[in-house]
Amino acid sequence: MKALVTGGSGFIGSRLVRRLLKRGHRVRVLDVQTGRLEHVDDPNLEFVGLGVDPLRGGMFDRSLVRRAVRGVDVVYHLAINWDGHSWRGRLPLPELFNDNIRGTCNLLGAAKSSGVKHLLFSSSIAVYGKRKSPILDEETMCRPELWKGGPGPGYAIVKLATERLCLMFYHEYGLPVTVFRIDVVFDDNEYQDLELETIRKAGKGETIEVAKGEGGACIHVDDVVEAFVLATLKRKSFGQVFNLSNPAVYVSDLDVCRIVVKSLGSKSKVRLVRGPALTGPRIRSVRKAERVLGWRPRKTRENLETTIDRMARASQDIIARRP
Ligand SMILES: NC(=O)c1ccc[n+]([C@@H]2O[C@H](COP(=O)([O-])OP(=O)(O)OC[C@H]3O[C@@H](n4cnc5c(N)ncnc54)[C@H](O)[C@@H]3O)[C@@H](O)[C@H]2O)c1
Repeated sequence: MKALVTGGSGFIGSRLVRRLLKRGHRVRVLDVQTGRLEHVDDPNLEFVGLGVDPLRGGMFDRSLVRRAVRGVDVVYHLAINWDGHSWRGRLPLPELFNDNIRGTCNLLGAAKSSGVKHLLFSSSIAVYGKRKSPILDEETMCRPELWKGGPGPGYAIVKLATERLCLMFYHEYGLPVTVFRIDVVFDDNEYQDLELETIRKAGKGETIEVAKGEGGACIHVDDVVEAFVLATLKRKSFGQVFNLSNPAVYVSDLDVCRIVVKSLGSKSKVRLVRGPALTGPRIRSVRKAERVLGWRPRKTRENLETTIDRMARASQDIIARRP
């Protein structure tokens, strides 16, 4: 198989690329940087679009996208421009919409014209917005404008619009498309919901305030990659939306703080306070992905705790060295 991975140099994309290469596939990456693939040297790996301004190049450049899609069987669309390629998410709304929506349109158009056999898109659970009751399935109404998590409701709206564009190409033009709504992703060294400020306070023994009732589920990057691989070219996944989360890996903000405090042997006290309710959607069931794809998240809450512990230990030196 020849695959194109957009955003293949990123957090999730790079893990997918490595997995595809390991399985002997040829992989073309459409990205503006080599990022997390910098040290991967494989004759089956090829890059297009490197070194350009993401607001003008990469998926935004229609002729480049056409070239990137040529001769490809499967497209994994993971590219996201949320602020250059940082996690700060401060890209102004017009650019956020312009790059990501236009980029996806370029990709879908090219995939349709060149007869791509399957396009898989990484959406987000952010599309559900803020909800009081847990999300039971993929039919729950989406309220992306209420999303309070990073990088803000504009991101959630872009993700919903983009996934609908993908599905439009399935219904209108018969392009086989699959959408994954992914929860917060962690790996063995990185959990993006752990704030450096928490580690700093714990490192200095300061009191840490935690909003009551806050927390969230998440999913290990290997489980996400596994779902993409299992769905690839599977007819039953065409035109479908799947939630990807691991309900067993729910962690409250209070638990996160306690793990950090313990890891650092800190004397910090953790105090519960009433704050603005930020809690996002909580995915209660991933039954559809289990049933249709035969997928099961394998990583456990223990894996997440190890990651938080590792991050806390690794970051305290960095924080201490800061002016
Ligand atoms: N990481 C998470 O917790 C999470 C959760 C839910 C959904 N997602 C989705 O999964 C996908 C991948 O997320 P990630 O965490 O790997 O993000 P990431 O920021 O690590 O990777 C995104 C990649 O896209 C590239 N990119 C930016 N602008 C581009 C352009 N114009 N053309 C081509 N490439 C461009 C970046 O250089 C980067 O390598 C995104 O679509 C994101 O919305 C991520």
